[in-house]
Amino acid sequence: MLAIIGGTGLTQLANLEVSRRQVVGTPYGEPSGPLTFGAIRGVPAVFLARHGYGHTIPPHQVNYRANLWALKEQGASGIVSVVSVGGIRADLGPGKIVVPHQIVDYTWGRMSTFFENEAPVKHVDFTEPYTAGLRNRLLSAAKACGEPVVDGAVYAATQGPRLETAAEIDRLERDGADIVGMTGMPEAALAREIELGYAAIAVVVNHAAGRGASARGVALQEIEEVLKHSVSRVRKIIEAFVAA
Ligand code: HPA
Repeated sequence: MLAIIGGTGLTQLANLEVSRRQVVGTPYGEPSGPLTFGAIRGVPAVFLARHGYGHTIPPHQVNYRANLWALKEQGASGIVSVVSVGGIRADLGPGKIVVPHQIVDYTWGRMSTFFENEAPVKHVDFTEPYTAGLRNRLLSAAKACGEPVVDGAVYAATQGPRLETAAEIDRLERDGADIVGMTGMPEAALAREIELGYAAIAVVVNHAAGRGASARGVALQEIEEVLKHSVSRVRKIIEAFVAA
């Protein structure tokens, strides 16, 4: 079963025919909210709003471990994560939809592993942080429904909840990052640890700090406008993905 974790602007999936909502406890605490089970075009799927259904949980306080554990326990085999990001690369302006292929993690202080107090110590391979099969399916789905998406980008995961300084964005760019967001990690790594397939759709909602229209500041009110327009495109891609 496919799981969808919705980010900012995607607290529900209009095309999900909801059959039930279920509160799921985990050894790691409470997920961001009840899981929403249903079907998209007749195919079973489960949805979770990463920031809670009322968008009340900031990126650094999301219980990523509980979210992933709950989805896995309830039968998810793969996750499509929807995230909003700032665009660092000049061609990645607001409204672009990107399927990233790499991650650089700048977050700190988050519960970022399931492997605690284990002997012997466990490691996972994370050379390719996103699952190739799921990424390819996402790209095919976008093509099938005529939504242009950018194939490949390096996602920088920052701590937030504040946005970055212009100098920090310059540094991220020197590090090779193309887009910047606050929730991509530790989510992707935790998925890998419990052997859940994981891929992301990133919606660029603003130029990153100091870039393009954000040269003198990020206009937060415009982010909402971009999200409103982009979310229906993301839904379309997910629908095509599930139906394929
Ligand atoms: N920086 C970090 N996270 C974000 C941004 C940004 O500019 N836009 C949306 N999420």
